[in-house]
Amino acid sequence: MWKEYPVDAMRWAHGGLAGWGALCGTLVGAGTIIGLVTSETDIAEAMVNDLAFYYSYTELPSFTPAKILKAELSDMTIAGTPVCHISVGRWMRAADESFLSDERAERCARLSANIAMETAHMLNAWSDGSYKPKHKPLYNLLANGITSQNNCTDCHGRDIPSAETYKSLDK
Ligand code: HEC
Repeated sequence: MWKEYPVDAMRWAHGGLAGWGALCGTLVGAGTIIGLVTSETDIAEAMVNDLAFYYSYTELPSFTPAKILKAELSDMTIAGTPVCHISVGRWMRAADESFLSDERAERCARLSANIAMETAHMLNAWSDGSYKPKHKPLYNLLANGITSQNNCTDCHGRDIPSAETYKSLDK
């Protein structure tokens, strides 16, 4: 089955959705495989939640390939979010490299390897019966009245709006 998987069917996910800088495409790919392999949707969701934590709060990319494809790298960064634009932007600032550099391409390729490896570890654990979710769901919809991570100041600065003003919000 896997050899015939139409990988090109997922090409649109590059650059955080056809270059829109939204969700990092590595997570689209990994989440799809997790959904296909695990038979229970709740397990898949817990695993994708764990993967989002790993992606957001681990210094990456930590993987070094045996054969360097495009460039040597020295910088790893903590994305703080699964959002492509912020993730790659924080790395670009730390590494002082432009988006179209070989270094940036290498960074995203190595990051993809890290995400694939973490996904394989979780799926192997699941297949052995030893997978336990590491992280709780964010519950931010209940807490804040809007889908979100707890990184409000990243975009809103100090003026974080409250969803309390919306009449349909019933806690
Ligand atoms: C990735 C950037 C980003 C992050 C992170 C973010 N927001 Fe927002 N949020 C926006 C944008 C953009 C809007 C649209 C309104 C605007 O431009 O201010 C918005 C709108 C909202 C709204 C509805 C508009 C309003 O003024 O009532 C609420 C409520 C809100 N955000 C709360 C939050 C909270 C709470 C958090 C953290 C838990 C958060 N946001 C995190 C970018 C973000």
